[in-house]
Amino acid sequence: MTLLAQALETKRVVLCVGSGGVGKTTTAAALAVEAARRGRRTAVLTVDPAQRLKDALGLGALGSQARRVPLATVGARGAHLDAFLLDVKRTFDDLVRALASTPEQAERVLQNRLYQNLSGTLAGTAEYMAVETVYRLAEEGDYDLLVVDTPPARHAVDFLDAPRRLLALLDSRAFAILKDPTTILPAAGSRLAHLVLAAVLRALERFTGMGLVREIGEFVGAIEALTGALRDRVRRVAALLHAESTWLLLVAAPEPRLVAETDTLVRALAAIDLRIGGIVVNRTLPRALFGTATPPPAPPTGVSPTLAARLRRSYQDLRTLAAHQEAALAPLVATGGAPVVAEVPLFPGDPGSLADLATIGSHLFPGGVRHVVPARGLGR
Ligand SMILES: Nc1ncnc2c1ncn2[C@@H]1O[C@H](COP(=O)(O)OP(=O)(O)OP(=O)(O)O)[C@@H](O)[C@H]1O
Ligand SMILES: [Mg+2]
Repeated sequence: MTLLAQALETKRVVLCVGSGGVGKTTTAAALAVEAARRGRRTAVLTVDPAQRLKDALGLGALGSQARRVPLATVGARGAHLDAFLLDVKRTFDDLVRALASTPEQAERVLQNRLYQNLSGTLAGTAEYMAVETVYRLAEEGDYDLLVVDTPPARHAVDFLDAPRRLLALLDSRAFAILKDPTTILPAAGSRLAHLVLAAVLRALERFTGMGLVREIGEFVGAIEALTGALRDRVRRVAALLHAESTWLLLVAAPEPRLVAETDTLVRALAAIDLRIGGIVVNRTLPRALFGTATPPPAPPTGVSPTLAARLRRSYQDLRTLAAHQEAALAPLVATGGAPVVAEVPLFPGDPGSLADLATIGSHLFPGGVRHVVPARGLGR
């Protein structure tokens, strides 16, 4: 059994990380289809899938509700695959509701104008919420395996660091100042200084015309009431990320531009004790077919000598390209510090249908049927 097959069959969480546009979402979906076909109750959590893939997974409408993916068309009747679209805003609202001790406390946060603006745009919120949703689903226990897509690498740093940063913010002096700006003054500060600061703040409110300072104070006060529960939750989310049963898959493509980004990602992961378990190389010429160790295939019988010569030249061209790709990939794999567990070729069209995902699955798991030429539906 390959390392990837082993991970798919034994792990509880598979996190797909990598640079922008390398194929994380597509790979996560293909892995999930394959896991379901292997009989595991699977959920795939996708971040911003392309429209065709979204349609194929039945994720037409927004929302974090589970959608059952009908796998009968890819020969997996009865397989259990649910797809989720990570809807950041709504999930953060759900978390506020879950953590608040009373509905009124939750409403205070949710109705706050600053919260409404911040919850969707806070740096790292999307990333934190992705992990938070994984935690919730893992805790509910309805699935054997969660396959998790993540935002591109530079945000993956936020993704894994978001809980710590959130807690650091809550503990920070800046937070205390926001809550009550007069704490900026020393305890024994003069009465005059307090008066001056209060006047400045009033002027600021008049200037912004929105009671900004009061609103910030209220927001911080309301959020702070949730801090204890949040702290505990974040700790448990972090424990899930670090559990033996969680596996990190780096999705990469053979492009030199990805090396620096991957390096940053891997260092950020290492800094919080997370290691890449394996690497999937997407959009590549498979080494098994075009590697230098592979003998050139004999031309098909019955073709003219001219065509046979052209086929040989084309094969040599592809081999040269494969050698370039291999050279581009070597530093990336070294940086990733993990074995390449599968290679997926570049298809002529964007893979989007369930059949396309099943075809990708056959490349991810070469033990099964392997299509060298993309199956019908991939080459539109
Ligand atoms: N092997 C492949 N051959 C051809 N096209 C591919 C392949 N894998 C992915 N694609 C296409 O490349 C594009 C990017 O793929 P995908 O959305 O999966 O990447 P991503 O890493 O999730 O991107 P982002 O970082 O923007 O979330 C999509 O249009 C997808 O259909
Ligand atoms: Mg994506």
